Amino acid sequence: MGTQGTYSIAVLPGDGIGPEVTEQAVHVLQAIAQQYGHSFHFQYGLVGLAAIEAEGKAISDETLAVCQGSDAILFGAVGGAQPGAAVKPEEALFRLRKGLQFFANLRPVRPSPAMLDASSIKPEILQGVDLIVVRELTGGLYYGHLEPGVPGKPSEIRETPQGYEAIDTLLYTEAEIERIVRVAFDLARERRKKVTSVDKANVLSSSVLWRRVAERVSKDYPDVAFEHLLVDACAMHLIRRPASFDVIVTENLFGDILTDEASMLAGSMGMLPSASLGTRRTEHGIFGLYEPIHGSAPDIAGQNKANPIAAILTAAMLLRHSLGLKEEAATIEAAVEQCIQAGYRTEDLREEGKEILGTKEMGQRIAEKVVALAGSHTV
Ligand code: IPM
Ligand code: MN
Repeated sequence: MGTQGTYSIAVLPGDGIGPEVTEQAVHVLQAIAQQYGHSFHFQYGLVGLAAIEAEGKAISDETLAVCQGSDAILFGAVGGAQPGAAVKPEEALFRLRKGLQFFANLRPVRPSPAMLDASSIKPEILQGVDLIVVRELTGGLYYGHLEPGVPGKPSEIRETPQGYEAIDTLLYTEAEIERIVRVAFDLARERRKKVTSVDKANVLSSSVLWRRVAERVSKDYPDVAFEHLLVDACAMHLIRRPASFDVIVTENLFGDILTDEASMLAGSMGMLPSASLGTRRTEHGIFGLYEPIHGSAPDIAGQNKANPIAAILTAAMLLRHSLGLKEEAATIEAAVEQCIQAGYRTEDLREEGKEILGTKEMGQRIAEKVVALAGSHTV
């Protein structure tokens, strides 16, 4: 038996496929709790469209307080409103990320050896790919001022005599850049000791500062190999030589775009988990927000078609980083890998000769593997 503990987890299933995939992640966590003798206390809250309907806001202050009082937050997905809607469901994410200061978003990409053929990239290019993108999450273009007319960081559409114009603000302070770059270097020390800092310093002032700060911080890590790469070149090299990357660190929007691209190395967006961390510690680890990288996919919502693996691997990251349960996290990851090896696939990964399962059935198989693996660990 592992050490027994009691943990509180805020669960925010959200919109579209969010509830379906989160349900499976919770089932897998329940299997872990049972096998290892832990007690997980799940507290559910509304976010996104459901919260806007019921509470008028994408996330209420009460829900935010529940999150703040928990050891970790498990998030599904939000989105699906009409463009230009008065309240955006995505604001729930921005309030959580910014309000709770989760500035470091870790997005690991490690294609399963059994799935190299599922990718649109040639298997020989995918051989040995094991990278992690460290995406800055609380600055840049995502956080222009939300109130129109407020000076400083405008983000708005405005009318002029010549017609409409729109503006967003890309602002980074030196301190914001330094803390995220340090996260990348510290991570690299536990991995293959290589950091690639990605910017657009040939065009953007914010990137010139980014590069200058990254360069300075790199001097504190002489044991870690360091390079700069322009974001357009990075997009190309991600599919040309993905195995050459170890840790990639970049600003908010570049990280958003590059990780959707990188998810294709792993076969599907439905495979990639993420952890959003700050500096606050809880009794057991680092306080964090855990989100699969995929969105709410309204087109397949409620049809038992969505791939729950990203959400389940996200739960594994939660165990590792926020609850300090490393063995339990590894058990989930091994269970997922074994299910993939056994040939189970969801619709997004349809392949000749593989068994296609629904969201529930895939979650069920993974939970069963967790029980089998944990059982053999504990005898
Ligand atoms: C992500 C998502 C979000 C983002 C959306 C839903 C606002 O695409 O987590 O990558 O852009 O950060
Ligand atoms: Mn995204």
